[in-house]
Amino acid sequence: MAKTKRIGILTSGGDSPALNAAIRGVGKTALGFYGMEIIGFRDGFRGLVEDRRLKLDKAALSGILTVGGTILGTSRDKPHRMLIDGRTRDMTEVIVENYKKYDLGALVCLGGGGTQKNALYLAKAGLNVITLPKTIDNDVVLTDSTFGFATALDIATEAIDRLHSTAHSHHRIVVAEIMGHRAGWLTLGAGIAGGADVILIPEIPYDVQKIADAIKRRSRHGTNFSIVAVAEGAMSIDDARAFKSAEGKRERARTLHDKKEAKNELAALEARHTGNTLRLARQLEDLTHLESRVTILGYVQRGGTPSPADRLLATRLGSACADLINEGVFGVMVAARGDRTEPVPLEKVAGKRKIVAPDHPWVETARRVGTCLGD
Ligand code: F6P
Repeated sequence: MAKTKRIGILTSGGDSPALNAAIRGVGKTALGFYGMEIIGFRDGFRGLVEDRRLKLDKAALSGILTVGGTILGTSRDKPHRMLIDGRTRDMTEVIVENYKKYDLGALVCLGGGGTQKNALYLAKAGLNVITLPKTIDNDVVLTDSTFGFATALDIATEAIDRLHSTAHSHHRIVVAEIMGHRAGWLTLGAGIAGGADVILIPEIPYDVQKIADAIKRRSRHGTNFSIVAVAEGAMSIDDARAFKSAEGKRERARTLHDKKEAKNELAALEARHTGNTLRLARQLEDLTHLESRVTILGYVQRGGTPSPADRLLATRLGSACADLINEGVFGVMVAARGDRTEPVPLEKVAGKRKIVAPDHPWVETARRVGTCLGD
């Protein structure tokens, strides 16, 4: 088999700490160890469509290990549904043409769940695709963890630490909203590490009365402040039921009319979910008669310098990725498995989401140390 000479690389989806560490890991190994040439494509899959390139030579790969964000820029564009001049178009053919035009032997895609799906799509279109798992949400299947998660965990934990002293001083409930999309890893991890009194995750729908009871129990025992770590995707039992029913309708819908109706129902529920954390804080204030405040951590969790753990993981995965390209292994995601890495077929990853099982050891740990999980 002819050895790969030139590879393309792009970052796609929401940015996350250690993307640059991963670009450097792939780049330095491919360039310095295997003598390949690397082209970076800007702003995700759009860079491949619009011919926006950045040559990643030795100088470009230097000094980026500790830098947050991505030197390539990113976007949530999908190859087969891209907004071009105000119209949504399938740009797969253009991407395949450009891949050939640049004489690429492989395309490395760094991203989360959505990127794995898009990568599989391009693999099926005939490209030599290989991916790395990135996201602060840690919700990619078949890898021990994703890079970005460890840094976000540090940031969210530090935030909970800091919220403790102000909650304590004012005898308040502080509700801290933590990212994670539809998975509770970040909230559960930071909640345990930061000693939150209540942890609410999407996988365990909550009953607001039970949360209020737990907070009141603390007050009765002389502790009149509480920290509630709530995942952005956490829901009350009623809301979770409504979502489940709407999602079921969408799956079962056969006619265009039914599909549209289910889509509208889901959109209405999603719109209602915005502001859920504020609503929850108000409900808790009413039920406990303790003053409450909300802190939405937001993009602070995604920005800035990656932690050493993330730099290490991203460098390991990036370097292993270059090894696999050299061996001609494509159509896979490079996963972390203990101290090692392993290629996992994209078919097994795309379209799946790793969520927290209700009996996961982290959940059990939280319960054992007396944390209320809202159920
Ligand atoms: O996937 C990472 C993430 O930060 C999620 O936790 C969050 O739900 C989402 O991205 C926000 O996406 P965007 O930055 O596109 O609004």
